[in-house]
Amino acid sequence: MSDSIRSLLEEVQAFTPSSKEELEQFRLKFTGKKGALTDLFARMKDVAPESRKAYGQEVNALKEAAEAKLNQFREQFEQSVSDRGVEKDPTLPGDPLPAGSRHPLSLVRAEIIQIFSRVGFNVSDGPEIEDDWHNFSALNFPPEHPARDMQDTFFIDLKSDPSLYQGALALRTHTSSIQVRVMESQEPPIRTICPGRVYRNEAISARAHCFFHQVEGFYIDKGVSFADLRQTLLYFAQEMFGHDTRIRLRPSYFPFTEPSAEMDISCSICKGSGCNVCKHSGWVEILGCGMIDPAVLQNGNIDPEVYSGFAFGMGVERITMLRYGIRDLRIFSENDVRFLDQFKGVY
Ligand code: DAH
Repeated sequence: MSDSIRSLLEEVQAFTPSSKEELEQFRLKFTGKKGALTDLFARMKDVAPESRKAYGQEVNALKEAAEAKLNQFREQFEQSVSDRGVEKDPTLPGDPLPAGSRHPLSLVRAEIIQIFSRVGFNVSDGPEIEDDWHNFSALNFPPEHPARDMQDTFFIDLKSDPSLYQGALALRTHTSSIQVRVMESQEPPIRTICPGRVYRNEAISARAHCFFHQVEGFYIDKGVSFADLRQTLLYFAQEMFGHDTRIRLRPSYFPFTEPSAEMDISCSICKGSGCNVCKHSGWVEILGCGMIDPAVLQNGNIDPEVYSGFAFGMGVERITMLRYGIRDLRIFSENDVRFLDQFKGVY
């Protein structure tokens, strides 16, 4: 055996690659098109005829040794790749990534927006940190009026730096504050709903939380009547809870509406026959409403001699609980995936 072939054979026998890349280098060096074996086979014609047979056997032995090494390690590397979970066939579909779901409050808020947008309401927004004027005064809550106690307010402490703001700032206690902002910046006809988060200083329980969500809605134009309010809310209740839903308006009091009412729907759980949710009355309250007080229109720079309007406000948590039969509103902010996963695929 020639020295050069022997040293190549020794190199092949000693070869133990530690990576796929090293194995590829080896393949290129020995069995590749421009590798040593191609070269050795090409030299066959220069070998003296009597030595040709022996030379051929030596080169073939080298070739077999190189191929055996390649096969041995190719298998080993492929094995370890699939051990890591990488499929050999890259065209196979991948493992699905776990997808999240929309929060039930977002689903219901989107549905409320959709229902009202079908009858011409657009969507308005306002700040969560609100001044006294928009949250209280413009809505007819005079200073020191006991009505302000209806809502336990989180006031923002500005004493440390009075230059920040002259007056009281609070986390808004209701989305009615957006009413005044919209009136101040738009001319009637105005037909809008205002979804948002609100804050109240309440002890957390199954029925109350220190933050929750509301949707305010109002319509201002010439000649808007209580009948328009009633029909709009009947339409909403039937779209949201089913076309057999009935509504009932009970007289109530809010500083910013006159007359004011609370609206009940026939219980969507027991269909009026009586259950725990409706406390066996067959009715559940879902919102407050009324005709916008002329003083509030005035505060929003709208002439109450020319225009009238209705307004309503509802809690998104309450609607969602009735819609999905949820008994405890704390679950909305707990982020428990066993709860949230139940809304997968709901849009
Ligand atoms: N702002 C009221 C609340 O938070 C809800 C409400 C009642 C809004 C009557 C209205 C309305 O627009 O007319 O309890």
